Amino acid sequence: MSAKGPPSCLATPIALLTFCLISPIADAGEIERGRYLVEALAACDNCHTPRGVAGYDLSNRFSGGAQTFSDKSYVVRGSNISPDRDTGVGAWTDEELRAAIVDGIGRNGRLAPVMPSESYKPLTARDLDAIIAFLRSATPIRAPLLAPQQRSGEWTPHPMPGASAAFDEASLADKNTRGLYVASLARCMSCHSEEIDGAPDYQNCLGAGGKTFRNAAGVVVASNITSHPVKGVGAWSDDELKRAITQGVARDGAPLRPPMSTLSKTHFSKMSPDDLDALVAWIRTIPPKE
Ligand code: HEC
Ligand code: HEC
Repeated sequence: MSAKGPPSCLATPIALLTFCLISPIADAGEIERGRYLVEALAACDNCHTPRGVAGYDLSNRFSGGAQTFSDKSYVVRGSNISPDRDTGVGAWTDEELRAAIVDGIGRNGRLAPVMPSESYKPLTARDLDAIIAFLRSATPIRAPLLAPQQRSGEWTPHPMPGASAAFDEASLADKNTRGLYVASLARCMSCHSEEIDGAPDYQNCLGAGGKTFRNAAGVVVASNITSHPVKGVGAWSDDELKRAITQGVARDGAPLRPPMSTLSKTHFSKMSPDDLDALVAWIRTIPPKE
């Protein structure tokens, strides 16, 4: 055995005990928590995993997204965030990963705002570390580098009101706080609030709908999900709301269209009953808007 470097966990029981107690080795529970946050709420695969015919190509998980996102000031692809050291983020420190995930700052400056760091801002320190532990547990995939083709400009983050900084772990015991946390990580309001000059107008239009998507299903407008009894979901039962969120089914039983249906089936269907309850309770607190 080499005398240099950290002792391996196969070393003598005493070395093993000391090393494993002081080193931040992710435990299985932490990795599972990270998997839950990534799969059920934050939907990182949506932009960072290529797609095959039957959905995400999980054999190349996190090796880079299929879509190219472009705007006046950027043309970017979802990067390789698998633990490959050369083409992914395997050589990044935890500190660098935290900066990318919650502050939108990459190794070469500010990331394009397609990377929704603003929505991940409320991540508790423990949950942010769990996401990082889960990413590090994935298979390293060597893939062509997807350097931004263009990226110029400064972008202002637009976090949801009340969700612009890390939450305290203990605060999540409160149902409404937990609902807000879930809504921010799942980016509900960034789609369901109208944009003014490219920024969601949370002050005046929170949840009132408006963002428009053009895809194979046609022109799809994010619905009003405020508590307005006619224009919003104020008259819906909890079960109807939960079905829309986790199965992509409208109140009348018709299927919702993408991107909502895709997010529902692939991601939100995995939401824990507690998170779903909290989310629905929080949605009910959104003031009615026409
Ligand atoms: C809506 C699409 C989208 C989602 C969802 C998304 N990302 Fe990103 N992410 C991007 C894009 C696009 C970039 C590259 C931006 C650029 O190059 O300026 C990026 C960049 C990154 C980077 C920096 C990598 C590098 O090489 O510069 C990390 C780390 C990252 N994302 C992690 C995550 C994690 C973890 C999640 C889920 C918690 C996530 N992303 C969710 C689109 C997304
Ligand atoms: C990427 C954008 C996007 C995200 C993120 C998103 N939605 Fe949606 N949502 C939509 C669109 C677009 C529709 C309309 C679908 C249609 O008309 O077929 C919709 C429809 C809905 C409906 C059905 C409303 C109705 O009147 O039929 C509900 C409820 C809903 N979303 C709740 C949520 C919640 C809660 C979240 C977060 C967990 C969320 N959405 C995240 C885009 C999004």
